[in-house]
Amino acid sequence: MSGEDAPAQEQKAEDQKQETKTSEQPKTESKPESKSTTEAPAASATATAADKPPEEEVFTYRSLVLSGHGGYDKVKLQVKKGKPAPKNGEVVVRVKACGLNFADLLGRQGLYDRLPSPPVTPGMECSGVIEAVGEEVTDRKVGDKVFVLNRFGMWQEVVTVAANHTFLMPEGMGFEEAAALPVNYITAYMILFDMGNLRPNQSVLVHMAAGGVGIAATQLCHTVKDVTVFGTASASKHETISEGGVTHPIDYRTRDYVEEVRKISPKGLDIVLDPLGGSDTHKGYNLLKPMGKLVTYGAANVLTGQRKNLLAMAKTWYNQFSVNAFSLMHSNKSMCGYHLGHLDGEFELISQVVAKLLDLHAQGKIKPKVDSTWHFEQVGDAMRRMQERNNIGKVILLPEPKKEEPKKEEEEKKEEKNEENKEEKKEEKKEEPKKEEAKKEEKQEEPKKE
Ligand SMILES: NC(=O)c1ccc[n+]([C@@H]2O[C@H](COP(=O)([O-])OP(=O)(O)OC[C@H]3O[C@@H](n4cnc5c(N)ncnc54)[C@H](OP(=O)(O)O)[C@@H]3O)[C@@H](O)[C@H]2O)c1
Repeated sequence: MSGEDAPAQEQKAEDQKQETKTSEQPKTESKPESKSTTEAPAASATATAADKPPEEEVFTYRSLVLSGHGGYDKVKLQVKKGKPAPKNGEVVVRVKACGLNFADLLGRQGLYDRLPSPPVTPGMECSGVIEAVGEEVTDRKVGDKVFVLNRFGMWQEVVTVAANHTFLMPEGMGFEEAAALPVNYITAYMILFDMGNLRPNQSVLVHMAAGGVGIAATQLCHTVKDVTVFGTASASKHETISEGGVTHPIDYRTRDYVEEVRKISPKGLDIVLDPLGGSDTHKGYNLLKPMGKLVTYGAANVLTGQRKNLLAMAKTWYNQFSVNAFSLMHSNKSMCGYHLGHLDGEFELISQVVAKLLDLHAQGKIKPKVDSTWHFEQVGDAMRRMQERNNIGKVILLPEPKKEEPKKEEEEKKEEKNEENKEEKKEEKKEEPKKEEAKKEEKQEEPKKE
């Protein structure tokens, strides 16, 4: 196993620097002991308190930390110490599931500007249960099930976040489904409706149609009457995306998607959603009908391997599309840019979108599709799944430790027994010469007795 393949290793994080907002730092200082009013019990209580460290100090939690930019092995599993305490307006959430996003792959390579430099805990979304509530928080209570959207820092067993970054999970929604919702669905909703202004009978091109945002966008397209969805994805995913609502799946790996679209819709498209960047933005713009809209929201083309690829970056930036205002006017087209990471101060706007999404969810019109779940120890494999283009839907990380498989336990028991047997045999072997000597001695003794 190469270093790249090595699973996230569990480390003690006491000495590690964590560059996050103060609110995301665990509080390590212990509160002063409360004084007892009665003399005798107070003395024994003080003795016990002196023996036992305060709860804040013994509290530990698992956290994924990006230790530097590079391959999968740069994300380490650490154990942090110190009970987090919420400040005014904050809540502490016991995390049950976290979402993996394409931006986390870029962040690992140092290509995502919204992630601070390492060491840092990545993760923009999670779901869980509120464990503590700070002062001035009136609309959340301990025990509430919530999903969370934050700029970074969510890949931990316990997180401290501003209460207005949390959203109540509806009845019947699971933690994995809830963790799959925020980034993908908020993005898909805003690019389609706020920027794309999708209306009945229109046509939309969805790239990466089998991915998290792609599936969300396809579902949302069908909340509007008679929308035609063109979706690009690897051929092996076409059956699933067709069932999910893609009208015309296109294998962009073996065919020219521009030609395929033109064959079906010679006039072009109403909306192109572009998460690829580089020359694909240009192709998307050219595919628009008059009054068409291109929404650019990613640069997936820069990601070609485990580590930063300068050639791919240069190629993407060199081919980056630009257009001037006159040309836009003459062609009757719109071009929009969207970046959720740069909307992190817009709580009201985001809350309104989440409310609309939860309403659509309640009506059964949208439902996040979870591709696979991985424990924190397996974060490298989870990233590899997305980066090697194998996921259909959302990849989820679970903070709880991976349980040993029962088969392994049996094997361990067998191994233990084998070890015991070996030891016994060794002992027997050691005993044998002694026994033989004793027998010899007995034989020598016998004539004396006569
Ligand atoms: N601007 C924003 O606020 C915002 C927010 C969320 C996401 N995004 C963007 O939306 C896109 C999708 O994000 P996501 O989180 O939902 O991921 P995702 O679509 O689940 O990403 C993985 C899939 O994308 C396809 N893909 C295309 N080019 C790829 C490449 N260069 N490397 C690896 N896979 C590639 C692969 O499927 P096939 O090859 O089979 O198609 C792969 O399975 C990304 O570009 C992301 O940056 C932007």
